[in-house]
Amino acid sequence: MRVPILAANWKMHKTVAEALAFVEAFLPSVRDVEGVEIVIAPPFTALDRVGEALGGSNVELAAQDVHAELFGAFTGEVSATMLSDVGCRYGIVGHSERRTLCGETDAEVGAKATTLLRNGIRPIFCVGESLDEREAGRAFDRVGEQLDKGLAKIPSEQAEELVVAYEPIWAIGTGRTASPQDAQEMHAFIRDCLARRFASAASSIRIQYGGSVKPDNVYALMAQPDIDGALVGGASLDPESFARIVRFAPPEESK
Ligand code: 13P
Repeated sequence: MRVPILAANWKMHKTVAEALAFVEAFLPSVRDVEGVEIVIAPPFTALDRVGEALGGSNVELAAQDVHAELFGAFTGEVSATMLSDVGCRYGIVGHSERRTLCGETDAEVGAKATTLLRNGIRPIFCVGESLDEREAGRAFDRVGEQLDKGLAKIPSEQAEELVVAYEPIWAIGTGRTASPQDAQEMHAFIRDCLARRFASAASSIRIQYGGSVKPDNVYALMAQPDIDGALVGGASLDPESFARIVRFAPPEESK
């Protein structure tokens, strides 16, 4: 049984005061939600205070990135030890914005995931193809390559701690979502890749979909057999919208 995991990736949004106002509005509205994991990834500057505000609730804290080394002369970077220190349970690695804007390679993303696991933080390992790759019929090859290179050093005993997020780049922030069928096809492919690497543990690994997830499309995505959650950008910035997403009720019941 895979527990669905719905995560908010706030990217570079919200001051500390704005983040705390979100938590104050959001927590009461999801207090009764059971059987799903709810995760929020604020910017680094708000992690500590948001972590404190989430204390004792059913919502967990995540970081949006991490450095692969644990300490040293890496100006501007944040280590897994520091993230544990402020209560992070999850850490996003390999988001396409970091791969594209910061030139992160598959090997670097893999090193970050390994460091997180060694330090008791579960990686949310992002993969996804560009529009050019999809149109050229190379989506599956690209995602397969990201998994092969990025997960090469993850020990099988820890594989169940992983969360994989499939985020087609062309669906991020564009309002264009993959159809539930196309997303399911890629998720099933990802699970096959995970099974080749990690054998039976693959059936326990949660695979999230990300890319223009909204309260009105989350139900159909979550109804797919290999879609175990969502990684949500824009629609997670508003407490009411994210609360509707974590319930993923049929659209007519979620109003
Ligand atoms: P949007 O939900 O804004 O498309 O962003 C998706 C994403 O990149 C989450 O990590």
